[in-house]
Amino acid sequence: MKRTIVAMPGDGIGKVVLPEAIRVLDAAGFEADYVNGDIGWDFWCNEGNPLPQRTIDLLAEHRIGLFGAITSKPKAKAAAELNPELQNKGFVYYSPIVTMRQHFDLDLCIRPCRAFPGNPLNFIRKSADGGFEEPNVDVVIFRQNTQGLYAGVEWTDPPRNVRDALASHPRFKPFLDVPGEDLAVSTRIFTREYCRRIVTAAFEYAQKHGYKSVTVCEKPNVIRETSGMMETEAAEAAKRFPDIQLWSTNIDAQMMWLTKNPEDYGVIVAGNMFGDIVSDGFAGLVGGLGFACSANIGKDVAVFEPTHGSAPKYETLSPSIVNPIAMVLSACMMLDHIGETEKADRIRSAIATVIVEGRVRTYDMLKMTGGADVIAKGAATTQQVTDEIIAHL
Ligand code: NAI
Ligand code: MG
Repeated sequence: MKRTIVAMPGDGIGKVVLPEAIRVLDAAGFEADYVNGDIGWDFWCNEGNPLPQRTIDLLAEHRIGLFGAITSKPKAKAAAELNPELQNKGFVYYSPIVTMRQHFDLDLCIRPCRAFPGNPLNFIRKSADGGFEEPNVDVVIFRQNTQGLYAGVEWTDPPRNVRDALASHPRFKPFLDVPGEDLAVSTRIFTREYCRRIVTAAFEYAQKHGYKSVTVCEKPNVIRETSGMMETEAAEAAKRFPDIQLWSTNIDAQMMWLTKNPEDYGVIVAGNMFGDIVSDGFAGLVGGLGFACSANIGKDVAVFEPTHGSAPKYETLSPSIVNPIAMVLSACMMLDHIGETEKADRIRSAIATVIVEGRVRTYDMLKMTGGADVIAKGAATTQQVTDEIIAHL
């Protein structure tokens, strides 16, 4: 059966890298129809809605999305750039990504951070004898994607009933007399069902892919209720996976130790914000934004996207200089998800060969500062990297 994929390029370099990923998918023999899904800044400016209903309908129908990146700007800029005809009509900018995750309940976010041998951006560390060693980083982060600090339940000047509820907690005492307009509250809500879903997914993945440990990365000694619930559910899940060790680290300590022994970690599981932080930390060890891919998976719908944003300063460079690998690896995660693992593995091994051969590299891999001049200095264009991957398929 031929699949239909909702292709949502978004803004900036999202429009550059998504077509490159589709070229690779085609070359790997993946047969699909692609329908375009509108998302991002242009749709905010022109329609007052960065995630139009027609895109939501397409995702609901076809259930698989490939997404590039979007541009977002602070409140005041968003209001100012809105089409004059739409101004003062009650349109308020919101994040289309967070909204998409919440609308389709894409609660499982998976962010693999695997070093490709030969990548000059791989983390190296000094060894005791004064030499250098390159640890083999192979970590997969499972981040709860819909709850916690990013759920959006927050106020400046909370309404009376919210203040009263907060005041019923003894620890609210120091805040009792703070004027409303000077009081900001962002809630961190976890539910047991969603803690259970993310930790179970993490253990199942560890088992399927041969990882020896699952690490819960939270802060249960201080954030006792929410982090505590995640820890409790991880311990429950661990009983069903006796061959996999359950480790626990605090997010702050994990970031400090990140560079000491990253090779010891396998699967890491965390709530929304700590998962966001720890996944960026590990991504930095394996090449950074040009390599960081992700999957957002719900019960019905799944969306695959690179972690990077729209890098607007590179949008109009011709030829394009950005690294397409993060987007192509995200497309591989899509193939894994729909059972096309052979094609995904073939693409990943073509990428691995391109990296180790080192003849065709974008500016980031050559440690250049980005700009129009990098091509003249020997960096490959986005399209050349894609061509090289395709040539190795
Ligand atoms: P960014 O990820 O767009 O860019 C940061 C820097 O990383 C760029 O200047 C560039 O040097 C480098 N970079 C990013 N992708 C690259 C690639 N594929 N190859 C080589 N180098 C790459 O983040 P920034 O500049 O903070 O935000 C730009 C816009 O993107 C903002 O409007 C922001 O809100 C949005 N954004 C969107 C995200 C998404 O769509 N998921 C995530 C992060 C930011
Ligand atoms: Mg992030």
